Amino acid sequence: MNSFIIHGDVCYSADKNDLRTLENAYLICENGLCAGVFSQIPEQYAHLPVHDCSGRLVMPGMVDLHIHAPQYAYRGLGMDRELLDWLNTYAFPEEAKYWDLTYAYRAYHIFTKAVKKSATTRLCVFGTLHRGSTELLMDMLEDTGAVSFVGKVNMDRNSPDELREESAEASLADTERFILDTKELYKNTHPIITPRFTPSCTDELMQGLGELAKKYDVRVQSHLSENPGEVEWVRELCPQAKNYGDTYDRFGLFGNHTQTVMAHCVYSDDDEIARMKENGVYIAHCPASNMNVASGAAPVRRYLDMDMHIGLGSDVAGGHSESIFTAMVDALQVSRLYWRLVDQHSKPLNVAEVFYMATKGGGSFFGKVGSFEKGYEFDAIVIDDSLLPHPQPLSLRERLERAIYLGGDVKALKAKYCRGALISG
Ligand code: GUN
Ligand code: FE
Repeated sequence: MNSFIIHGDVCYSADKNDLRTLENAYLICENGLCAGVFSQIPEQYAHLPVHDCSGRLVMPGMVDLHIHAPQYAYRGLGMDRELLDWLNTYAFPEEAKYWDLTYAYRAYHIFTKAVKKSATTRLCVFGTLHRGSTELLMDMLEDTGAVSFVGKVNMDRNSPDELREESAEASLADTERFILDTKELYKNTHPIITPRFTPSCTDELMQGLGELAKKYDVRVQSHLSENPGEVEWVRELCPQAKNYGDTYDRFGLFGNHTQTVMAHCVYSDDDEIARMKENGVYIAHCPASNMNVASGAAPVRRYLDMDMHIGLGSDVAGGHSESIFTAMVDALQVSRLYWRLVDQHSKPLNVAEVFYMATKGGGSFFGKVGSFEKGYEFDAIVIDDSLLPHPQPLSLRERLERAIYLGGDVKALKAKYCRGALISG
């Protein structure tokens, strides 16, 4: 197993209000796990090789709790519509192409190359409803060295003919096969149950997916309370449900059987939030997407104050960039507008809080991930911020803040480790 030491300027979150910065520190990886950060190498580790990254920023790998792999191809295009119209105009026609494995290979090659080059070490990924191309995506993601949960999407209603499964029964049979095919196949890549969102899934399908989650102990991801038109549509489709969250909860798809991550939660009501808190549902906050498809601004301060599980999602291609550094900046900026325009009592987020969400907050969905405390899985990135010169010496905290705002991940990523293995750089 991998054991070594990185010498550099180390930043990590111990908690959402506890950002630690240690200049000239020694970060120890012992058998793929973090053994701590020290100002001098402890005697017991003196025999380990030291990777000299002095003068560089060393921090946990980034976590993307929500991204659509098949939408990567058209990121940065078609931001002129609201969610439901956007899905019909751009997302569904693109995703319909993925029945074709040749196309899927070409597009997923571009996506997985971008994942490899990024600062991200952990991801929750939507594929399409096609089992073959989603399994191909998993093969390709495994080769990136990152750890991911990947979903074959379920859709059996309110979708175009070319992107709708024949029946709930057919969708469930295909999903069970997908789970059996992939559950034990990879070291780093795992299946996750993925009802697209309530408007795309009949009750029969939701019921069956809840049963599969329980039977195979597989996690769940979906979308929740993202956009006003969508929330209204769910109310019409499910008049018997208390709220949008209840349309998942009643079928065991809301953290009640297995860990669940819901993207957005912009319009969650008090009862929905209480259920999420009670069930430990993760929130993937996707600020760029919420701006691009004009969904709104999520009450992130409230979620943090309630100690809910929350991380960041790029939501490509609702979001235009796969960079979680960009997502941190977007989260900061949206929170300032939320404070100014929506609720003056809702204090804007700060750098420590968004860094926490990008690392330890989202990372906990994957276990002990996203920090450098002892026993955490060793995911780390090394950034050369000398490419962002400044006329005066800056504190390490200031250097981190600048690297986040100035896109230090894209310009200056020198190395990326996941579970103790060097996977890029
Ligand atoms: N809701 C259902 N499908 C999607 C999607 O592909 N992107 C976003 N942002 N929201 C969705
Ligand atoms: Fe999404």
